[in-house]
Amino acid sequence: TRTRVAIIGGGPAGLLLALILHRAGIESVVLERKSRDYVLSRIRAGVLEQGTTDLLRTVGLGARMDREGLVHDGFDIAWRGEMLHVDLRELTGGKTVTVYGQTEVTHDLYDALDEACVPVIHEVEDVTPQDITGSAPFVTYRTRDGEQRLECDFIAGCDGFHGVCRQAIPAASIETFERVYPFAWLGVLTRTPPIQDELIYANHSRGFALCSLRNPQLSRYYIQCDADDDVANWPDERFFDELQARLPSAVAGNLVRGPSIEKSLAPLRSFVAEPMRYGRMFLAGDAAHIVPPTGAKGLNLAVSDIHYLSRALIAHYLDKDDGLLDAYSETALARVWKAERFSWWFTSMIHRFEEHGAFSQRIQEAEFDYLADSEAAQTSLAENYVGLPF
Ligand code: FAD
Ligand code: DHB
Repeated sequence: TRTRVAIIGGGPAGLLLALILHRAGIESVVLERKSRDYVLSRIRAGVLEQGTTDLLRTVGLGARMDREGLVHDGFDIAWRGEMLHVDLRELTGGKTVTVYGQTEVTHDLYDALDEACVPVIHEVEDVTPQDITGSAPFVTYRTRDGEQRLECDFIAGCDGFHGVCRQAIPAASIETFERVYPFAWLGVLTRTPPIQDELIYANHSRGFALCSLRNPQLSRYYIQCDADDDVANWPDERFFDELQARLPSAVAGNLVRGPSIEKSLAPLRSFVAEPMRYGRMFLAGDAAHIVPPTGAKGLNLAVSDIHYLSRALIAHYLDKDDGLLDAYSETALARVWKAERFSWWFTSMIHRFEEHGAFSQRIQEAEFDYLADSEAAQTSLAENYVGLPF
């Protein structure tokens, strides 16, 4: 079979690309390794930037998000037992973020693609991009019915960090940049009311903690733990004891405990691959870059990549202009690196680094003091948190 754009990976990046292309009358096929239920059960990001919600509305995905998503005007940073409120709306001239889980965004994307009859083929195996640098690329894969071949004009590598697309690029044609942090996040989802309406990012000598939520009856909590720790070491009671110990006493007492309905460990990593193009294949989202979760940027970066890539593909097909395609990697990377910088900075200031000496500890404390006293510092944090413009 033949399509215009073969999209490898049915996460937020791949699904959104398929939908935007469809709205512009451009055919694509999405190839996803897992089942739909599996993709929808992965608990991941929860915070959407202003630019992300604007884009989702533009492609017709605003209805449920605007009904059920929670607009957050600010968040708290806890340190030395106190809370610093960061007023996003005030500091950014009216911008906010929206709490609406990645599972909900993915759900809405599937519904829209179903309605538009855009093919998303699940549980495909051995997906392999072929002849990427030639004029007639194609993708081979296997389904229950046997070997398949999908011919296309372009391949979109939206298959996440462990996907095949980036790995199909010869080492000489790609450069990677990486930092692995010496700790992980242990996340718990509970059907309990959140500790407060807004998020709390807490720096504590016992380690970082984050209080987030999905809706008024569903809480999402994270604590910093060792990189080689194991979920089995953390029964619910121990998790909540530790979380509570890391929060200022003024809010700690409001924590409502409940059985975890999901518990998982996420490593922290910064990673960028350059360029985000090889021949007729374009990388987008986690396939090209990873940020530590601290700044809530991973999903939002996938969306901004797709904004640039879809615009470029539309210009190719509708205006016969390849300028944006040729500029895609450079354009996307400029924004990616700024989000990498912010995520690295926020990670560095809010976590406990055991191996750091007394000097780094004092610098971290000075970072907080500066933030607390300086509107300029808070403005910089806020404009990055709500998301830099596309
Ligand atoms: P993905 O969502 O990874 O989608 C890639 C898709 O490709 C997957 O569905 C995968 O099954 C599929 N795939 C992979 N290989 C193949 C193949 N060979 N063939 C076909 N399909 C393939 N971000 C935040 O902002 N906040 C968070 O709290 C947060 N928590 C996270 C927790 C975890 C465990 C992980 C892994 C990520 C987390 N992120 C978080 C990051 C955020 O979820 C990602 O940045 C976002 O999912 C990126 O979307 P994507 O579409 O690029 O990649
Ligand atoms: C969530 C995750 C994050 O990484 C973050 O910075 C804020 C919220 C969450 O899962 O709710």
